[in-house]
Amino acid sequence: MDRKRVVVIEGDDAAPEAVRPTMELLEKLNLAIDWLKPPIGDQGKELYGSVFPDQARQAIDESDATLFGAASSKSTAALFYLRFGKLTFANVRPAKWLPGFKSPLAKPKGIDLVIVRENLEDLYLGIEGELGILEPLNLISPFTQKKIAEMAPGRFGLKVITEKGTERVARFSFELARKRKAKGHPGKVTCATKHNMLSLSDGFFREVTKKIAQSYPDIEFESLIVDDFAHRLAANPQQFDVAVMPNLYGDILSDMTGGLIGGLGLAPSGCYGNSYAYFEPVHGTAPDIAGKNIINPTATILSAALMLEYLGFAQEAERMEKAIEKVYAEGRILPKDQGGSATTTEFVAAIKEYL
Ligand code: IPM
Ligand code: MN
Repeated sequence: MDRKRVVVIEGDDAAPEAVRPTMELLEKLNLAIDWLKPPIGDQGKELYGSVFPDQARQAIDESDATLFGAASSKSTAALFYLRFGKLTFANVRPAKWLPGFKSPLAKPKGIDLVIVRENLEDLYLGIEGELGILEPLNLISPFTQKKIAEMAPGRFGLKVITEKGTERVARFSFELARKRKAKGHPGKVTCATKHNMLSLSDGFFREVTKKIAQSYPDIEFESLIVDDFAHRLAANPQQFDVAVMPNLYGDILSDMTGGLIGGLGLAPSGCYGNSYAYFEPVHGTAPDIAGKNIINPTATILSAALMLEYLGFAQEAERMEKAIEKVYAEGRILPKDQGGSATTTEFVAAIKEYL
């Protein structure tokens, strides 16, 4: 196998404290991977006068994947390049409860679902503005019967759902459900939208996903209104396998599924395009615990495992997952957010022993 190239972006605040020990585990696996660490954020600013210099973009372009810590405003330029520049349209956010994960639920056993969040459209195109600029469009609310521009002063945000964007993320979700079915999962895709209120935009997402469902007769398909989906997630998350939804709902609900299994310290993600992927924990930069060596690196390590699988190192990915499973099942050495007292360093040392 050819050697792979992976860009590592440690991110901001406490994120590097999770990425560095994750790198130690990866290095212990002795993989045919070259690790590149282009200067980004403060370091980029110091060396090249930019938080996302050309050198960093080029390193990403020449790599097979990126492992990303978490971004505060300093690293969002890099994050947005990894999304919109590399067209990583499917943001895959698994939530799998393992024995030892400190879930707030009485019965977390069997939670094993994946949120597939459309990653490039919806309200994330960043089109916002003053209501007044809508004047020439003469938009009238079907509900209030009044001209929108007349509601000024005020602002709007634009939600965009395209056929191509929805088709590709829907197809990705069905393919994922199929792969999971082969490993014993139920083989079901749930589409979550607000089509009763947003019949043209979310209604379109639902319609396009329904159409794709027809090519997957082996996969069960259901369509739920997103608020109903949220309620069911809290009440009985075990009923879900793969759930696909527009960007913003996926952002919000994947934090929630992280909460269900025991917190954001446990929730990994991978963002996939047709020719690139990057991997990052669902959590933010945790500035409140920066410098304390107590961040839970599980989400980052599991993201790295997703990356290894993507790069063709499935066995090593499984080794990392199994090592984490053992440490949690034992429950002797756990990070603070999971009810333990281990530092990040101690926790990672425990994982390393089982690797
Ligand atoms: C995430 C984050 C980002 C998002 C922020 C940092 C822009 O919350 O990856 O979920 O909203 O997509
Ligand atoms: Mn988020």
